[in-house]
Amino acid sequence: MGDWRPQIAASILTADFGHLDRVVSKLEKAGVDRLHLDVMDGHFVPNITFGPDVVAAFRRLTDLPLDVHLMISEPARYIDRFLAGEPETVSFHIEADASDERIDRTLRTIQEAGVGAGLAVSPATPVAAVAPYLDSLDVIMIMTVEPGFGGQRFMADVAPKLTEAVGLFAAHGTPGAVHVDGGVSRDTAAVVGAWGAEVCVVGSALFQRGRDTADEVRLVRERIWEGRHSGPATMATRSPRAVGLDARVAAPDPR
Ligand code: DX5
Ligand code: ZN
Repeated sequence: MGDWRPQIAASILTADFGHLDRVVSKLEKAGVDRLHLDVMDGHFVPNITFGPDVVAAFRRLTDLPLDVHLMISEPARYIDRFLAGEPETVSFHIEADASDERIDRTLRTIQEAGVGAGLAVSPATPVAAVAPYLDSLDVIMIMTVEPGFGGQRFMADVAPKLTEAVGLFAAHGTPGAVHVDGGVSRDTAAVVGAWGAEVCVVGSALFQRGRDTADEVRLVRERIWEGRHSGPATMATRSPRAVGLDARVAAPDPR
């Protein structure tokens, strides 16, 4: 595959919560690079999942890096409890806190614990919103679905934000990873690769009946890589169907 290898972060949101130990060992065997843990509070998003004790339980189940994605109000209030689960990164939504000063302080608290600090950006929020925090940012997580549920349709028109996010880190001269979260599958992987995603969250696509998880991981990774090497201009000139999208979510125009 060459020097650059896309990273697959498996979201367990639509996995069988009755057998998380089996789910984790299946994902490990399938070769995923990281686990993506979606924390929802029923307030910031209209769905509830799990909290810090379950994150800590995942830590005991696996050595894979854990990316905690907080879709909760008042993230600052709970950050220490999530850090106790020894994740690799913690990202919270920039829309969840109106205070610039508190956002910055929360990011620094995460970094002081030796953990990567991230801001997640919902589809309607411009990437530029994270620019003031680049000094204390390790992850920009671009949402390509509305946060709240797994298995939603990929929003291709949001994908150019991935390139913008890569550009923000580059212009600032700080290393940081751009994650893409929502609707990534064999059908959309080439698009996110083309727009520069580095860590690709894949959820429901890994848990389809009749499909092998390891095959799916391999296929998604391959298509991300292909997309990366063809670039957005090529993607945009191909028909939507050629990149596995229907007309409503056509590949975006290159800027
Ligand atoms: C949505 C979550 C995502 C999502 C990924 O709010 O943040 O992590 O579950 O799952 P798929 O790949 O099914 O969109
Ligand atoms: Zn997520």
